[in-house]
Amino acid sequence: MHILICEFMDERAVDRLREVHTEVYEPSLVDDTSALLRKVAQTDALVVRNRTQVRGPLLDALGRCSVVARLGVGLDNIDVAACEARGMVVMPATGANALSVAEYVIATAMLLLRGAYASTSEVAAGQWPRPALSQGREVAGKTLGLVGYGHIGQLTARLAQAIGMHVIAYDPLIMAEDACLGPSGVKQVDLDALVGTADVISLHVPLVDSTRGLFGAQRLARMKPGAVLINTARGGIVDEVALAAALKGGQLGGAAIDVFEAEPQPAAPHWQACPNLVLTPHIAGVTTESNERVSHFIADQLIKALA
Ligand SMILES: NC(=O)c1ccc[n+]([C@@H]2O[C@H](COP(=O)([O-])OP(=O)(O)OC[C@H]3O[C@@H](n4cnc5c(N)ncnc54)[C@H](O)[C@@H]3O)[C@@H](O)[C@H]2O)c1
Repeated sequence: MHILICEFMDERAVDRLREVHTEVYEPSLVDDTSALLRKVAQTDALVVRNRTQVRGPLLDALGRCSVVARLGVGLDNIDVAACEARGMVVMPATGANALSVAEYVIATAMLLLRGAYASTSEVAAGQWPRPALSQGREVAGKTLGLVGYGHIGQLTARLAQAIGMHVIAYDPLIMAEDACLGPSGVKQVDLDALVGTADVISLHVPLVDSTRGLFGAQRLARMKPGAVLINTARGGIVDEVALAAALKGGQLGGAAIDVFEAEPQPAAPHWQACPNLVLTPHIAGVTTESNERVSHFIADQLIKALA
């Protein structure tokens, strides 16, 4: 069978596919639309990350493809319904990068609540901003509100509880009696209660119609004064301009944003001069270890599916 991999994948996992199938590994193909459209016509399985848009002309060009494998979990770059209508299996790497995202959330929660780690250049220059940096907050005893309680939400809850945080969660598709909530000590609440109570809110929902714009200006204004917001889920869930205004106005105490409505994020004046803000280029789920796990997970699944 012929496999086309058009975004980066762990080389050892690519080698495993190469042992049993004809494979083309061109991680830069995602940036060359006409070459990509030409090459997908020959492929039985297409392997993408989050940049390849599997819809419209690309979908039409996938003449004999039976599997679209996703090196990650969000499926908003894939028209899943259209793939399935054409008999293609969509294969995400469910859970394989959850730990990387969960660690990002804990690290940024600690960094943002403490607010004390950006003094390197001042200290190196002989300044001593001790009074200004002595008002940081501990995470222990604070409430973490998880919006979305799937693979990443549940793992984040476990890490947060281990450092003494109380965890509450909102997920309309998970019932209170579900085993993952029952014995975990995580309390299920409605979204308004979560927004008004949590010291740290972390988003772990897919980008779908019901989550687009979920954290707009009004909901951000209802967050606890000084609370911090972490979005590793998807751009489009948080109103970025409203968030920047809430940070500059002092209503929110900080934010970490890994995902943006437009990626790569073009220069954006609204982010300038925002206090206690961490912006990262969609890397929360991408570490050395998760790249290996995700890649080998997909290699295993592809080898089974194409046998
Ligand atoms: N930044 C990154 O690098 C990165 C990496 C991995 C995943 N992600 C994003 O994180 C998201 C979550 O990943 P996951 O593995 O936990 O997915 P998952 O499918 O295991 O969990 C998602 C949860 O969201 C819930 N949900 C759906 N609609 C909701 C709504 N309107 N309100 C509240 N909850 C809702 C679902 O019931 C489910 O439990 C992915 O969809 C992806 O967009 C980002």
